[in-house]
Amino acid sequence: MIWNRKTRYTPYEQWPATKLPQLAAQARQSKWRMQHHIQPTSGLLNDPNGFSYFDGQWHLFYQVFPFGPVHGLKSWQHVTSKNLVDWHDEGLAIRPDTPYDSHGAYTGTALPIDDQLFIMYTGNVRTADWQRESYQLGAWMDTDNHIKKLSRPLIAHAPAGYTSSFRDPDLIRNDHGYYALIGAQTTTEIGAILVYFSKDLTTWTCQGELNVPANARGYMIECPNLVWIDQQPVLLFCPQGLSQATIPYQNIYPNMYLVADQLNLAQAQFTEPHALTQLDDGFDVYATQAINAPDGRALAVSWIGLPEISYPTDRENWAHCLSLVKELTLKDGHLYQNPVAAVDDLRTTAHDLVFEQQRATVAALNGSFELLLTVPADKTVTVNIADQQESGQLQVTVDANHGQVMIDRRHTGNSFAEDYGQTRQVELTAHKTIKIRLIIDVSVFECYIDNGYSVMTGRFFLNATPSRLNVQGDTTAVTGKVWEWRQSEHTGVDNNETKIK
Ligand code: FRU
Repeated sequence: MIWNRKTRYTPYEQWPATKLPQLAAQARQSKWRMQHHIQPTSGLLNDPNGFSYFDGQWHLFYQVFPFGPVHGLKSWQHVTSKNLVDWHDEGLAIRPDTPYDSHGAYTGTALPIDDQLFIMYTGNVRTADWQRESYQLGAWMDTDNHIKKLSRPLIAHAPAGYTSSFRDPDLIRNDHGYYALIGAQTTTEIGAILVYFSKDLTTWTCQGELNVPANARGYMIECPNLVWIDQQPVLLFCPQGLSQATIPYQNIYPNMYLVADQLNLAQAQFTEPHALTQLDDGFDVYATQAINAPDGRALAVSWIGLPEISYPTDRENWAHCLSLVKELTLKDGHLYQNPVAAVDDLRTTAHDLVFEQQRATVAALNGSFELLLTVPADKTVTVNIADQQESGQLQVTVDANHGQVMIDRRHTGNSFAEDYGQTRQVELTAHKTIKIRLIIDVSVFECYIDNGYSVMTGRFFLNATPSRLNVQGDTTAVTGKVWEWRQSEHTGVDNNETKIK
């Protein structure tokens, strides 16, 4: 397949009817299909969208281009869950089928309002001479998952002084009405977040630019997202082109956060933003979307994939996944991230690590499992995750002497994104115990360090299913346990063909 403007933006109905079933069958054969992470039935998945709790269940949508492993004509795919762990595929939900979203139904968010879900998203349009136009659009979803798009845009264009790179509305409700934070770019190519207000969800007025620190903006801000934790505002966002002088980061584009003391949306003012921090210290997290659940918890889902990077599954015509759902908490101004409690229910059989000659091995694993490991002060061990033949391995080094965790995907067998470095490292306090919870799901890892103080997430591609784990090094007084995970109960996410409604 040659991917060019024409093939990427071919209307869905012009593809042969056999195309999606063929691609889905090819993806199902892949040794890199995950068991618990949300992945596309075919084609490319990117940002999580419209994460919400509505009508007694969790709703999550994601950006998808079902026809290939490239960024083409995007839709929203819909999945639902009762427990935040097992997801059911509900099919394509928002398709690019109006003059306002003809070149992609881009990222957005959702809020339950009365007995419906209100969705706000960006319609991407390209004119005949391929100029971009961006519309902020609205739609209502009822309890039967029927979606009705509003016939006119909520916001027809960016205000004067901003380019048409204007997208990804984050809808917020407060006592005064509704606000939307929208990713933007000034005509001088500086990233910005615009704040809009509406009393009735119909008429929207621009309140100005959020006072994001000047060195935290890059040339374009994507996916601004606000969540409240213990009454404190936390802003997640993706400043493309952020200067390395602000924060050294290795991924092509970073996903960052700022915690502030207060936020006055009417005045678009953040008070005393703390230091800009990278959300995930691994290789592949982007476009994270967080919400406050009805019980107040802050829950987040990330896209595990990055723009403009080729991944090994591209050869199989599919790409990327979403993270597990993470709960965000704050302690002493620091953001902690941990998998939601329901993830513990995936555990089946436990194996204690038994060290002999400074090495413990657990074999005959089946692709998805987790390791809980405690490394006492001044000890250093390396964890290897390998296939049966040990033809490649992912290495995690926990150094409780210098206070570092390092993840190395150099020896996995199927390298990619080498230009951005094949190792990632987090710095902790030297000479202190380090605890990790390393989750493996076939071709993705999520490594939670010191109860979620840091997280390192990434894809890795062995030549066969990960089935062996070993821990070696200076293992005196090191303790740990491996939990096998049950098979997924999700009927749809992996097995159904993409349903085009
Ligand atoms: C981020 C992003 C968003 C956009 C969407 C398009 O990954 O570029 O800014 O809405 O993806 O799929």
